[in-house]
Amino acid sequence: MSDRADIIPIETPIPADRQGAKRHYGVHPYFTRRPYNVVGDYIRRYSQERDRVLDPFGGSGVTAIEAFLENRIGMQNDINPLANFIAQGIADLTNGKLQDYADALHDIQERYQPQIGEVGNADEHALRELKRKLALPEDIDLPKNSDVGKYHELFSLRQLISLALLKEAVDSITNEDARKGMLLAWSATLSKLNKTFLSAEGRAESRGGSSIFSIYRYKVARTPVELPPWETFYERATNILKAKAEIDQAVNLKRNTGGWCGKFEVYAQDIEELGDRFPGAIDYIFTDPPYGGHISYLDLSTLWTAWLGLSPDPKIREKELIVGGGLNLSENLYVERLGKSVRACIRMLKPGRWFSIVFQHWNISYFEAILSSATDSGAELRAAVSQVGDPIWSMHKKKNSSVLAGELILTFHKTNERRKLKRDGIFDVANVLREVLENTPGEKIYGEYLFNKVVIEAWERSAIHKLNISRNDFIGLIEQFGWHYDEKNHYWVKQKPELLFNMSG
Ligand SMILES: C[S@@+](CC[C@H](N)C(=O)[O-])C[C@H]1O[C@@H](n2cnc3c(N)ncnc32)[C@H](O)[C@@H]1O
Repeated sequence: MSDRADIIPIETPIPADRQGAKRHYGVHPYFTRRPYNVVGDYIRRYSQERDRVLDPFGGSGVTAIEAFLENRIGMQNDINPLANFIAQGIADLTNGKLQDYADALHDIQERYQPQIGEVGNADEHALRELKRKLALPEDIDLPKNSDVGKYHELFSLRQLISLALLKEAVDSITNEDARKGMLLAWSATLSKLNKTFLSAEGRAESRGGSSIFSIYRYKVARTPVELPPWETFYERATNILKAKAEIDQAVNLKRNTGGWCGKFEVYAQDIEELGDRFPGAIDYIFTDPPYGGHISYLDLSTLWTAWLGLSPDPKIREKELIVGGGLNLSENLYVERLGKSVRACIRMLKPGRWFSIVFQHWNISYFEAILSSATDSGAELRAAVSQVGDPIWSMHKKKNSSVLAGELILTFHKTNERRKLKRDGIFDVANVLREVLENTPGEKIYGEYLFNKVVIEAWERSAIHKLNISRNDFIGLIEQFGWHYDEKNHYWVKQKPELLFNMSG
C-alpha cells in the first residue's frame, strides 16, 4: 500500500472563510460555489505537490484552481461550457503582464466610453439604427419556466446595445492575455446588465443580483434596474486587475520557493466518459455533484453561453446529472447515474489514494447510491464531516427544502477491497436521535448535523435502507424530545424551562 494510507482524515468541520474569500473567485458569479479555504484544506491534507487533483463536477473551478495554486496539476471537468469558461478564465489570469491588462482597459475606455455614454441619451429611433449595425447573439428560445420566451427579451434595448458595444471593445484588444481577462469582466457585466437583475433592498442599486442565482429561473424584475453600462463594466474589469495581481503574487511565491509545476487542465466530458479516459491516473478527487433538480445548470447558463458562442452540444445535455431539467430526466435515472459517477471517480484514482464528495440531500437513496457504489468499487468510507452553520448555506436551504443547508463531506480511501453493502441491520430513528440529543454537550445543535449523525449511524449499523423519514417527521421528533428551532440562528436549542411549564400547564 502507498504512503498515502497513513494520512489522518479530516474529522472536524472547517469554518468557511466567506469574508476573506479571495477576490479571484469573486470575479464572476456561478451557482453553489464551495468555500475555497475548505477545499484548500482538503487538497493539502489528501494530496501532495505535483499530484493530479481532479474535480469531475468542477463548476466554476474552485477545486482545480486551489490545486493549481497549491502546486498540483489542477484538473477541471464540467459539461457546462460556462463553468469551464470561468475556471479557465481565472487560471489564465496567470498569463501576461498586469500592466498590459491595465493598458488594454485604458485603451478601450478612451475609444468606447463616450460612445457607450451616448447610448443612455439616445432616442428609440437612434437605438434601433445602432442595433442594426451591431453584432448580436441569436435570439434563441429560453426554458419554459422563464418569464419571457426569447433571449433578447432578457434585455432592454439600451442594455443590448451597450453590451454589444462593450463586447466589440473587448474583441478589439490586441494583447491576447489582456483580451481574455477583459472578456471575463464582460461576461461578469452581463450578469448585471439584464432584466433578471434585482437590486437588494436597502443597499446600493448595483449590489443586487440576478434571479438566476437566487430563485434559479429567468424571472424578470417588475421594475428592472438599469445600471450604468460603462461603470458596471469598469468595476468588473478592475476586479480582474486585482484578481490578477493576487494570483500573480500566489504563483510567484511558489515560483521563488522552488519548483512550480503550474498546470491547469480543462475537460468538458460527461463524468462517466472521463472515468474511461483516466483509469488509475488521479491522486485526489474532491467533488460536489448536483443534487436533485433545483438548479438546471445548463439552462440557467444560457444567458452567458448564448452570447459567448459557447452553447452546449445537444448530446451533452442528455448527460446532465439532474432530476427534471429541460429534458425532464427521471429521478431513477439520476440515482443510477449518481452511483455510476462515484464508480467513475474510484476507477480514476490510483490505488491507495483518496476521494472526497460533498453530500447534501434529504433523499437517503442518493446517500445509499454513493456509499454502495464506493464500497463495491473498492473504496472505504474513512470520514464523514458535517460542514454546518454557514449562513450562506442556510440561505440555500430556504430556497429548496429538499436540499440540506449543512453538507456532509464524505471521504473514501481506495483500498481495492470490493465489498457489498450490508443491509441486515436493525435501526430505530427515534432511539438514535434521542441518544444523539442526550449526548449533545452544548445547548444548541444544527438540524443538518443531527440528520447527518443519524445517517452515519444508520450506515454504520448496516441499516441505511431502513432510514426512511421525511423532513417533517424528523423535525417532529426533535420537537418531541423537547428542543425548539431558533428561527434567527437556524439551529435547535434545548427548550427553556418556563416554556415547558407553560405547555404542561
Ligand atoms: C454543484 S456544481 C459544482 C460547483 C463547484 N463545486 C463550485 O465550487 O463551483 C455541479 C456541476 O456539475 C456539472 N455537471 C452536471 N452533470 C454533469 C456530468 N454528467 N458530467 C460532468 N459535469 C456535470 C454542472 O454543470 C455543475 O457545474
